[in-house]
Amino acid sequence: MRAVPQNFREMRAAAKARLPRGVFEYIDRGSEDEKALDHNRTSFEALKIAPRMMRGAAPRSQGVEIFGKKFSSPVIVAPTAFAGLVWYKGEIELARAAKDAGIGFCAATEAITSIDEICGEAGGNIWFQLYLWQDRSLSQALLERAWNNGVRTLVVTVDTPVFAKREFNVRNGFIVPFRFSYPSVRDAAMRPGWLLNVFGRYVSKEGLPTFANYPREYRQDILNRTSKKKILHEQDLNWNHIRDLRAFWKGNLVLKGILRPDDAILAAEHGADGIVVSNHGGRNLDSAVAPLDVLGRNVDASGDRLVILSDSGIQRGSDLFKSLALGAKAVMVGRAFLYGTAMNGRQGALRTFRILEDELDRTMGLSGCRTIPDVTADLLYR
Ligand code: GLV
Repeated sequence: MRAVPQNFREMRAAAKARLPRGVFEYIDRGSEDEKALDHNRTSFEALKIAPRMMRGAAPRSQGVEIFGKKFSSPVIVAPTAFAGLVWYKGEIELARAAKDAGIGFCAATEAITSIDEICGEAGGNIWFQLYLWQDRSLSQALLERAWNNGVRTLVVTVDTPVFAKREFNVRNGFIVPFRFSYPSVRDAAMRPGWLLNVFGRYVSKEGLPTFANYPREYRQDILNRTSKKKILHEQDLNWNHIRDLRAFWKGNLVLKGILRPDDAILAAEHGADGIVVSNHGGRNLDSAVAPLDVLGRNVDASGDRLVILSDSGIQRGSDLFKSLALGAKAVMVGRAFLYGTAMNGRQGALRTFRILEDELDRTMGLSGCRTIPDVTADLLYR
């Protein structure tokens, strides 16, 4: 019997052993020299906790309320493009795990499973992440589908007007929109379990995996065969788009990928309800600052006008604690959930959550905190 993973590192190793290299590295790695990826970790490690003693440590609770909804913990499953490639219907498994755990789940535009199917199969408190397309009518139609499926929180990714330079993807023949190439076929052949249980199941049940939220005539399967027309992300992304989205979307509007306090203020001025202070998990601008280093400034700048969330580089419950102490209301976690899902679908994703929840709980207990509001900046030491 395999040992049950106890932490992020062990989950990552388990996922690496199961997934074809192209898929694993797509999730795991950063851009260019991977400095942002490393720096996200260095920032967490450099920030220490000065724990308070003799304040009582029980009972403890991680409950939080975001946009009027209660969650059992301030962990939100981040939107990620390829959850459906780490496990058959991985997005549904992940969304079900989030529901089991009582935490938030954000579905992605570039998911393998459509927002309709995820909401229909999993339910729970589902948010939706948007990459704005150049053809606005297509984006609006997608948002209408999300709304009609009960989505009330929209997370617009604002940090990707152009794709980052991710050299390993090119080497692995894993290109977005993805297509098979010689290296990716070779990688897949080395993971027969994945080939059979993930890829093979798609092929036998519904055909080659595609970006299921795309209108049918724009879908490109991973052999790059079926696309008739190309769908383009908006590259001239600017505040007018946010103004228009604000007018169109009646629910909560969150901008993901803000790092500067002046942008946080602009987000509030354009009617956003929240931001995610994020450098896209160290996957976009390789020289970007670490979210942790600018989180406090963004919180100070936007005060109580915005719900501030953060993400990028979370591996331990103490990373959650530090983000919360700096003022994040909740923290998005991407890679760790994909590794858990790759290990064992819904149960594996739940395992990811239990590990983070337990680590956050112990960190709180060891620092004299009973509740999330007790986790404050004065507990941090630089
Ligand atoms: C997409 O958002 C990615 O980071 O790959």
